Amino acid sequence: MSTQLISSIRVGIAGVGTVGTSVVNILRDKFSTFEQQFGVQIAISRVVVRNIDAVRNCDLTDVVVGAELMELSTAEDVDVVIELIGGVEESLALVRESLRNGKAVVTANKALLALHGDELFSLSKEKGVPLLFEAAVGGGIPIIKVMRESLAGNTIHCVAGIINGTCNYLLTRMANEGAKYQEVLADAQKLGYAEADPTFDVEGIDAAHKLALLTRLAFQQSIDFSKITHFGLADIITDDFSIVKKMGYVIKPMSIAKQSSKGIEIYVFPALVSQATLLSHVNDVTNVVQVFADRLSSINCVGPGAGGDATASAVVADLVEIVHAIHNDSLSSVYTPQLDERKQQAQMVDFEETEHAYYLRFQMEDKPGMMKQCASILERFDISIEVLNQNEPKDGENTVSVALITNNVRERILQQAFHEIKKLSGCCSENSSLIRVFQI
Ligand code: HSE
Repeated sequence: MSTQLISSIRVGIAGVGTVGTSVVNILRDKFSTFEQQFGVQIAISRVVVRNIDAVRNCDLTDVVVGAELMELSTAEDVDVVIELIGGVEESLALVRESLRNGKAVVTANKALLALHGDELFSLSKEKGVPLLFEAAVGGGIPIIKVMRESLAGNTIHCVAGIINGTCNYLLTRMANEGAKYQEVLADAQKLGYAEADPTFDVEGIDAAHKLALLTRLAFQQSIDFSKITHFGLADIITDDFSIVKKMGYVIKPMSIAKQSSKGIEIYVFPALVSQATLLSHVNDVTNVVQVFADRLSSINCVGPGAGGDATASAVVADLVEIVHAIHNDSLSSVYTPQLDERKQQAQMVDFEETEHAYYLRFQMEDKPGMMKQCASILERFDISIEVLNQNEPKDGENTVSVALITNNVRERILQQAFHEIKKLSGCCSENSSLIRVFQI
């Protein structure tokens, strides 16, 4: 594309739901500012929607509104495709064909890139057209740009954070109100934070998709999504929030990827986070990404991880980068995540071989010798108790809650010890907890 020929850059948007509506509104607000800044107009030429007749809170005057998704990939009046339909199969077809046809693509679709990133990023490189995805991780937090540009002088050894707002909301309310999981989940659904089917969020799948992208950027390696271990929230028991609080912790939905001597460790789980850290104060639907790097120790990026305007803000940032590049005749130089040629496929450490400190809680009969039996099982597995908390029995009950935090132990070993303790006569096996402790 030559600068002299360009008077406007034409955008086609797939999906005008919450995020798409905000994208249209932001662009309408900023059309003249962008024109002044870049000397080129941004025009929305087409949108594709499922229901053409639906009422929308945005102005689609002079925009072709259609229902044929794949038209965006071939339309002559579309230079940049913005993919906001979600899902994987249809979006894959759209993004693939758009790139093949030389159209730049902006997407918010983490599942698509976690599962098909290898193919799509290499297609983007081969065709010399960008595939940008700031909105796919952390909503409005500009973490992708920070990792790809601002930390270029660093070697990253860990990226960790709270990257699912729904889970953070649920755990924050359970902690603050002593509410039960099912109650707060129902509220989150009413408020529109959680989907009617909340599986992707509460089982850690959404966070694992985002973590796959962050890990790819951090270590320039391709991540086999199926090997990411993710645990959900359903097993978290309300009683644990007050117990861990006394021990100096809160429970947060953590996503962690780190380089260890054995390879890359990558997992999503609810974890104890020290009250002394910034992470412990990131509440409700807010997200945080913490990057640990050799030259600057660590940085934290905090902000709204979801919502129409926040996510649209990231989409528009990507679009502006593309517009700027087109205007400077340098589209092929826009960033594409590259894989390290020497180690393209990440060596991922089997979760059973990873090491953590663990919070364990057992409800035990209040009788002499219970604690001794528990401690001797831990000793047999060479597990040390670092912190111990025992509550007095509640009135009229003959059981006590025994909570402890272990030293660093291999997952496989810890699970064996945990199961042996649960089998002790006098231990209520159905009322016990195992939560990993977040530490770098
Ligand atoms: N459902 C996600 C969250 C936002 O709760 O963080 C979109 O990925």
